[in-house]
Amino acid sequence: MKDKVIIITGASSGIGKALAIECAWRHAKLSLGARNIPELEHLAAQLSANGVEVLVTPVDVAKEEDCRNLVTRTLERFGRVDVLINNAGISMRALFEEVDLDVLRRVMDTNFWGTVYCSKFALPHLLLSRGRIFFYLEVPWWAYHPLQATADFPAGPATPPPSSRFTDSWRLSVPKT
Ligand SMILES: NC(=O)c1ccc[n+]([C@@H]2O[C@H](COP(=O)([O-])OP(=O)(O)OC[C@H]3O[C@@H](n4cnc5c(N)ncnc54)[C@H](OP(=O)(O)O)[C@@H]3O)[C@@H](O)[C@H]2O)c1
Repeated sequence: MKDKVIIITGASSGIGKALAIECAWRHAKLSLGARNIPELEHLAAQLSANGVEVLVTPVDVAKEEDCRNLVTRTLERFGRVDVLINNAGISMRALFEEVDLDVLRRVMDTNFWGTVYCSKFALPHLLLSRGRIFFYLEVPWWAYHPLQATADFPAGPATPPPSSRFTDSWRLSVPKT
């Protein structure tokens, strides 16, 4: 992992932040994205103080242009992308009959489209570097009550099927690196 350029979305807290710290320990170069810039800057300052090269980019993964910018800035700073970790995501729980459609849209925009955008813009560079991509997958939708609109693990009833189809087709169609 030494000197590998790793993009982590949702690095401002939780699993993404923990991954950033682990990768830093292994001497990777980090490109961290999230919306909470003060948190990201705080983390970056701690890592930089220990000699780690870190780039912070404001990213709302629900916005296509933000995802493109994350990859562009990574290339400008480090010249390559070796790993993309699609970690950014949100959770929600509600009864399907009660949940607001805007909430489900937000879950899809973040968990599904955020993953699609980042993967799309990073793919050419991952192929060049023979890199790796990681997806955070959710427990299959049928594991939940059909009337429960849960986005724990991390998507609503509509997002797991498209998310897993997306990663399945990625597995089948993208050349092994
Ligand atoms: N914890 C679990 O048990 C569990 C289980 C299965 C899967 N997951 C999934 O694993 C991932 C990390 O989970 P976690 O527990 O570490 O969650 P978390 O602590 O809530 O962290 C989520 C991260 O995603 C970022 N994020 C959310 N919406 C975003 C957006 N629109 N654009 C950019 N970044 C966004 C947040 O940063 P900002 O708010 O700063 O943008 C935050 O850094 C998520 O996808 C989650 O759904 C978690």
